[in-house]
Amino acid sequence: MSDQAEKLRKMLMEKYSKTARTIAVVSGKGGVGKSNITVNSAISIAQRGKKVLVFDFDIGMGNIDVLLGIDSQNNISNYIKNNLSINDIVYTGPYNISYISAGNGFAEVLELDQTSIRRLLAELEDLQHLYDFIIFDMGAGATKTNLQVLLSVEDIIVITTPEPTSITDAYSMMKYISINAPENNLFLICNRSEREKEGKLTLERLQSAMKKFLNKDIHSLGILPEDSHVRKAVIRQEPFYSEFPHSPISAKLEQIVQNYLGENKKYDLSQTNHFIRKLRSFFER
Ligand SMILES: Nc1ncnc2c1ncn2[C@@H]1O[C@H](COP(=O)(O)OP(=O)(O)OP(=O)(O)O)[C@@H](O)[C@H]1O
Ligand SMILES: [Mg+2]
Repeated sequence: MSDQAEKLRKMLMEKYSKTARTIAVVSGKGGVGKSNITVNSAISIAQRGKKVLVFDFDIGMGNIDVLLGIDSQNNISNYIKNNLSINDIVYTGPYNISYISAGNGFAEVLELDQTSIRRLLAELEDLQHLYDFIIFDMGAGATKTNLQVLLSVEDIIVITTPEPTSITDAYSMMKYISINAPENNLFLICNRSEREKEGKLTLERLQSAMKKFLNKDIHSLGILPEDSHVRKAVIRQEPFYSEFPHSPISAKLEQIVQNYLGENKKYDLSQTNHFIRKLRSFFER
């Protein structure tokens, strides 16, 4: 395509189509349920007729493939190494969601270089017009690229558990975000709560600490219970939401997604999408 045709195509895409809302799912402490919550919420959002892309951003250590029981051939590591197009690595997954695999195996752990980042950003910009939501599962590592993506999305969903170590790490993470990206919306979910009260207390503590010390409002999305269906589903390599739709955790997840979409509506138009512009400004500094 000529440069001019390419420009025209971009202009038309922007003018006549949607721009995806970008979400990052993060935690302070690892292993608190980010990937499971990402995949299952994505499925629930897709069931409401929205187009969802899950981007496993735990580069080199991703496990969304494993959670979905898929052995994807192409992933973000191949994309960088073999100069693939982003369309080559977007899988139309089961349950009506699309996803990009992070690749697995330590050999593939890599920091994105400038050239790949530029290419990725240009292609992500196109992709944004094809989806309603792009959800980044951020993994546990706090690499430079991870943090930049994190600070560029509109909505950040922080996952904690009721454990004190998880709570303090969630607080540190939210503090970092609220200082470096004050305009981002912060949402909070408490996962693996044995009792409702324990979950409520966890959410309230974090919410009031954020208000008191950083003057930042965070939106509590809800509490997910400790539920053995999660482990069972993981072992079967099926998402719990589709495998056990009547389990306690699926019912709660449903509520959380509803809360998120309700909150999201309030911002939808007031905050136009700055995701790619922000990312560019980070990488071109
Ligand atoms: N609500 C829950 N009830 C019971 N077990 C859970 C629950 N949530 C998560 N788990 C357990 O925790 C494990 C880790 O979950 P998951 O992989 O989603 O965490 P993660 O935050 O993505 O981890 P990482 O930081 O390594 O990316 C699951 O395989 C499951 O066994
Ligand atoms: Mg994970």
